[in-house]
Amino acid sequence: MENKSLVSITDYSKEKILYMIDMAQHFEADPNRKLLDGKVIATLFFEPSTRTRLSFETAANRLGARVIGFSDPKATSSSKGETLKDTILMVSSYADVIVMRHYLEGAARFASEVAPVPIVNAGDGANQHPSQTMLDLYSIYKTQGTLENLNIFLVGDLKYGRTVHSLLMAMRHFHPTFHFIAPEEMKMPEEYKLYCRQNQIRYVEHTDFTEEIIAEADILYMTRVQRERFTDLMEYERVKNVYILKKKMLENTRPNLRILHPLPRVNEIAYDVDDSPKAYYFQQARNGLYARQAILCDVLGLRMEDIL
Ligand code: CP
Repeated sequence: MENKSLVSITDYSKEKILYMIDMAQHFEADPNRKLLDGKVIATLFFEPSTRTRLSFETAANRLGARVIGFSDPKATSSSKGETLKDTILMVSSYADVIVMRHYLEGAARFASEVAPVPIVNAGDGANQHPSQTMLDLYSIYKTQGTLENLNIFLVGDLKYGRTVHSLLMAMRHFHPTFHFIAPEEMKMPEEYKLYCRQNQIRYVEHTDFTEEIIAEADILYMTRVQRERFTDLMEYERVKNVYILKKKMLENTRPNLRILHPLPRVNEIAYDVDDSPKAYYFQQARNGLYARQAILCDVLGLRMEDIL
C-alpha cells in the first residue's frame, strides 16, 4: 500500500499543495461532515502544544472520528523507557492514523518507516512542521489571492523555527522573494540558504527590523524566540527581546500586507497590533482546522470526489 504519511512538506508537489488548499476551502465552507465515521485518530504529543493538537482533535471530531492519545509523555510508558519504535507499533494496532509531535529531528520519518498506518508529523524538533505549513499556505492564498511572486519577510528565530524552514521549502514552487530578518545568533541556517540557491529562491538577509525594511512586504511572518531549543540560556536572554513589532511600524506598509505568526507569541508582536486589519494570526490559527481536516482525509485515502 502507498505510504500516505505526511512527514515533510517536500512530500507534496506544487499540484498537491494547490489540491490540499482546494480541499481546505471545501472544509471551511462546511466543516461538519461524518467522512471519518468509525476511524480512530491517535495524537501523540511528546512536546507541549495548544493549537496543533487541539485543531487536529477538533478536525477528527468534526469528521466523525474518535480520538485517543496523550499530551504529556510523563504519563505514558515512554517514561519507563519504552522506545519510540515500540510505542508507535503499539498505537498502530489501536488507531488508523498517528499524529505525532516529538522533540527529536527525524522522529516522524523514523515513525513512518516502522508504522503500518500513516504518520502525520506535528513538528519534529527544529526540523519540519508540515501541517503548520499547509495552514500557512492556505492563509497566504486566502489573503493574497495567489501564492505566486510574493515578498515574504521571516522575522525572529530563523535558526530553530521549524515553521519557517517548512514554509521556505514549500514556497519553492511559487517564485517568492524571502527576506530573512534575524540577529546573528538566530540566522537562517546555511543548509536552508543552500536550499534557496539550489531552487532559485531569491533571499536577502537583514539584522535590522525597521519600518523601512518591511515597507515592501506582502507577508510578515513573525516568530517566537524558542527558549526550549537553546542550550545556553544566557544566549536566549541576550536575544529574547530583540525584535518587537509595534502598530506604528505598519503605517507605510502595503495595503495587502498580512501579519502571520504560528503562535504562541511571547512579546514579539505588541498587543496594539491585534486591532490592525493587517493582523491575521488568529484567523491563521483557525485556518488550521480546515487544513488539518484535509490532511486527515488525504492520509486516509479520501479523494476530492469523496468530500464533495
Ligand atoms: N503553531 C503551533 O505549532 O502551535 P502549538 O505549539 O500550540 O501547537
